Amino acid sequence: RTLMSDVEVADDRHPIEASPEVRAKVHADFRQGAAESGFGRRKLIRNTMFGAMALVPLSGVMLLGGLGPAPKTKLRHTMWAKGKRLVNMNTNQPLRPEDVAVGSLTFAMPDGMSEHDEDFQNEIAKAALMIVRLQPADIKDKRELDWSHQGIVAYSKICTHVGCPISLYEQQTHHVLCPCHQSTFDLTDGARVIFGPAGHALPQLRIGVDSEGYLQALGDFEEPVGPAFWERG
Ligand code: FES
Repeated sequence: RTLMSDVEVADDRHPIEASPEVRAKVHADFRQGAAESGFGRRKLIRNTMFGAMALVPLSGVMLLGGLGPAPKTKLRHTMWAKGKRLVNMNTNQPLRPEDVAVGSLTFAMPDGMSEHDEDFQNEIAKAALMIVRLQPADIKDKRELDWSHQGIVAYSKICTHVGCPISLYEQQTHHVLCPCHQSTFDLTDGARVIFGPAGHALPQLRIGVDSEGYLQALGDFEEPVGPAFWERG
């Protein structure tokens, strides 16, 4: 406050182009230089220069090509599919509704994943779920309620800001918090963002129970999980 004045001061921007005299001199110098070098008459040099300029865009193509194959729709899909059981990430056991305790955060992955699978780490990172048991009456969002099972909701564990794993759950408010930049999501209201830099609610996974009483996915996420910097449709 001491150093910065409270009075707003505007300084007009000056024109950045050179004066007409300077520009006329530059043009004259250029023309003189071109005439003296005989550049216009030296076809080989001129054509080589044009050829080099034509190849400039190629470096961009090579650079992009070096980034590997385009992800296509890979970022939109995870390993979740209709009928995949939810497996507890800590115990590696399929989850039943009664395993999901009130007031705790349970982390789950799709059944059938193995550390020996190629790309296991990437797939697990995309598919990681957090599961919470809420009172159905506390759920404000109708779609969230429809996609839950007796108040058990399953959301992507990957923060929609820049992708940190969400790990903090406040049981009184049912808010979850990302430790990286403190984005906070309200699990009773479609996991919408109530604080912080995240731009989107956390994607919800639709769940139910199979014929043997295990929690199962009823499909994949309907939107890309994680950061919002790729195209969402
Ligand atoms: S990654 Fe979660 S708030 Fe930034």
